[in-house]
Amino acid sequence: MTAPTAAAPDREQPKDPESRHPAGTEAVRATDDAFDQDVLPSPPGATGALLRSLLAPMRPRVALTVLLLLLQQAAVQAGPLLVAYAIDHAVPALRDDDRGPLIAVGAGYLLCSLAAGALQYGFIAVAARVSQDVLLDLRGRIFRHAQALSVDFHERYTSGRLISRSTADVESLRELLDEGLQELVTVILSFVYIAALLLWLDLGLGAVAVASFGPLYALVRLYRRRAGRVYRQRSTAIAAVIVKFVETMNGIRPVRAFRREAANEADFAVLNRRHERTNGNALLEMARYVIGSRLVANTTVAGIVLWGAYRVADGTLALGVLAAAVLYLRRLYDPIDRLGMFLNSYQSAAASLEKIAGLLAQTPSVPEPAAPKELPPPASEHPGREVVFDAVSFGYRTGGEVLPRFDLTLPAGQTVAVVGSTGAGKSTLAKLLARFYDPSAGRVLLDGTDLRDLAVPELRRGVVMVTQEAFLFSGTVADNIAIGRPEATREEIERAAKAIGAHDFIAALPDGYDTDVRKRGGRISAGQRQLVAFARALLADPAVLILDEATSSLDVPGERAVQRAMTTVLKGRTAVVIAHRLSTVEIADRVLVMEHGRIVEDGTPDELVAGTGRFADLHRAWRDSLA
Ligand SMILES: Nc1ncnc2c1ncn2[C@@H]1O[C@H](COP(=O)(O)OP(=O)(O)OP(=O)(O)O)[C@@H](O)[C@H]1O
Ligand SMILES: [Mg+2]
Repeated sequence: MTAPTAAAPDREQPKDPESRHPAGTEAVRATDDAFDQDVLPSPPGATGALLRSLLAPMRPRVALTVLLLLLQQAAVQAGPLLVAYAIDHAVPALRDDDRGPLIAVGAGYLLCSLAAGALQYGFIAVAARVSQDVLLDLRGRIFRHAQALSVDFHERYTSGRLISRSTADVESLRELLDEGLQELVTVILSFVYIAALLLWLDLGLGAVAVASFGPLYALVRLYRRRAGRVYRQRSTAIAAVIVKFVETMNGIRPVRAFRREAANEADFAVLNRRHERTNGNALLEMARYVIGSRLVANTTVAGIVLWGAYRVADGTLALGVLAAAVLYLRRLYDPIDRLGMFLNSYQSAAASLEKIAGLLAQTPSVPEPAAPKELPPPASEHPGREVVFDAVSFGYRTGGEVLPRFDLTLPAGQTVAVVGSTGAGKSTLAKLLARFYDPSAGRVLLDGTDLRDLAVPELRRGVVMVTQEAFLFSGTVADNIAIGRPEATREEIERAAKAIGAHDFIAALPDGYDTDVRKRGGRISAGQRQLVAFARALLADPAVLILDEATSSLDVPGERAVQRAMTTVLKGRTAVVIAHRLSTVEIADRVLVMEHGRIVEDGTPDELVAGTGRFADLHRAWRDSLA
């Protein structure tokens, strides 16, 4: 890599695998650009607000966990105090033949341990429930939110990144909740308890111990700052690995077709290595912190033992108190390594939560209406409705204007064919009508109602688009046809399939309509998929049906059959049929020729064929090709 971006200055080091695989650099750079969107902009405080909103419903249970920990720590920290009592009181009493204090100490110690164990069990049980509920809620939110976001969001934010949000990022939050948070609260509580007990036992020793908190705190601060950066890099690096993985496997066919395996492997090696390196850096930061804090701890213990020994010899300090102080200090400093672990999980959880918060802060660019409107009942017994593009202009976020200023009226029930060269804006027109996007100016009206004001179920019933992709979801063929109307009966499903000419091939599948499309034998061809998609649209029974290259995978007889079926299917509906094959145009009442986002010809097929315009030329060329 030659030009690391300013956002990640320390990602590169010389003598990387990068330099050995120059072929891989382009794709790696593309992934780098995608990194920029890994942390989506979110309003300040969004991360904290997200965490609070996740915990808010469990406030009583969180309070209970804190109470349980408070009691548990009290039971745990009683130990050294009992030891001091044993040395300074029970042993002298024993010399006077009084076994009472020793028995009391022993019983007390046993009781405290039992109580501590029981309290800890209770704490873990409650805390585990809290963390599971938080994660359940969070995963649900990510799914719902991502699904609700508009098409243009998904065009920019890859599915790999979404997967990484709902797996790796949720997982790092789990680590924090399950392990880290308990650690932190325990450490803080024991610091408070022990400092108080030491000061109470002996002001001087207590003061020395408390003084050691200063450098420890400084170390923690330093570690947090440095580790924060490393952890953010690490989580970005792991996300890149996941993105590359998902993208490659999703595109496995073009990968095979273009023999991209070696280049992909090189790219993956670079990303994988980058992740490994950030991981290594994180471990080194951790090691520095642990060694530094142990140095502070051991120095303090040594100081207290030295000074305490002199004072015991002087008779100004009881031996038991010194023993208790040393025991307390050990207990105080032991969890410091674990505090580092906690900070680790805190850092990665914070980085992850920031990303999730950024995702959840995205608002759909095609929002649901604040005051949803219903459509008036259809004017005739036919389902079709009038469509108006009223001074619409539109451009994609990433490009220039695609539709400069677009006016078009489609009367209810009209079948309109839209033709035009590649990139003319036909699909864009269709996507605006299906409200995948909203126009940047102007309105798209369905029977006089702006699509933006239309209630979601109304829009779903109103406009259905069938595209070239004809995506099938896992499930049976029947499930796939019924997606637009889940309550449809088997008869209705079969009727739709028959109307479109899909019944014969479906009946020939191993389990007919119950064949699982993801299982062996359920694999169906591209053309068959399109037929299923057609049946799906027909069953949904929309007022406006849009077919965007929906017959492009069908063979000529297949297309003919669909066309014949379509005259019945489209009857009474408003239909927009986009097709490169001019044969489709024959079923249309009206033909629009589009160029550069404008309509350049508009008329009945016969008029246009008889004329001298572009369509007449196209039609002549097509006729000639058939001859
Ligand atoms: N998601 C998108 N983001 C950015 N630009 C886009 C997007 N989709 C299409 N465009 C651009 O908008 C213009 C019109 O594209 P559109 O898909 O509407 O063309 P089309 O007429 O359907 O072409 P085709 O016949 O090839 O399907 C093209 O210049 C294209 O580059
Ligand atoms: Mg198109």
